Amino acid sequence: LSLPRMYHERVVDHYDNPRNVGTFDKNDPTIGTGLVGAPACGDVMKLQIKVDDGTGKIVDACFKTFGCGSAIASSSVATEWVKGKQMEEVLTIKNTEIAKHLSLPPVKLHCSMLAEDAIKAAVKDYQAKQTKKTGSTEASP
Ligand code: FES
Ligand code: FES
Repeated sequence: LSLPRMYHERVVDHYDNPRNVGTFDKNDPTIGTGLVGAPACGDVMKLQIKVDDGTGKIVDACFKTFGCGSAIASSSVATEWVKGKQMEEVLTIKNTEIAKHLSLPPVKLHCSMLAEDAIKAAVKDYQAKQTKKTGSTEASP
């Protein structure tokens, strides 16, 4: 098997064995869905979180990405990193951290940006659902 040398083994690993590929029911009130696209290349990433209502903790996450290997690897890493964390905590995840973890080359930075944007969008979607449900923001403790 010959792999393009520009890719770090972690990218290849996450590309070959992506973690948490799947879909949650987006109408479920405990689910937050982030759907983002990269205008530069047209790639699309969907990342979903399942949140425990009581604690605000992300108990599960999944993704579906139509994009390059770096985008798939970035979303796979993102789902691993958000699981078990508080929503406020995952908002601080930076695409540069994901890119560093995967040793992405500069031209692939926007791929990891998709993952950061998708996390933020998923949290926002969840919070919007809570606001709708109760008429107030329940997201902060
Ligand atoms: Fe999977 Fe680090 S190799 S998150
Ligand atoms: Fe566009 Fe990777 S090339 S997300």
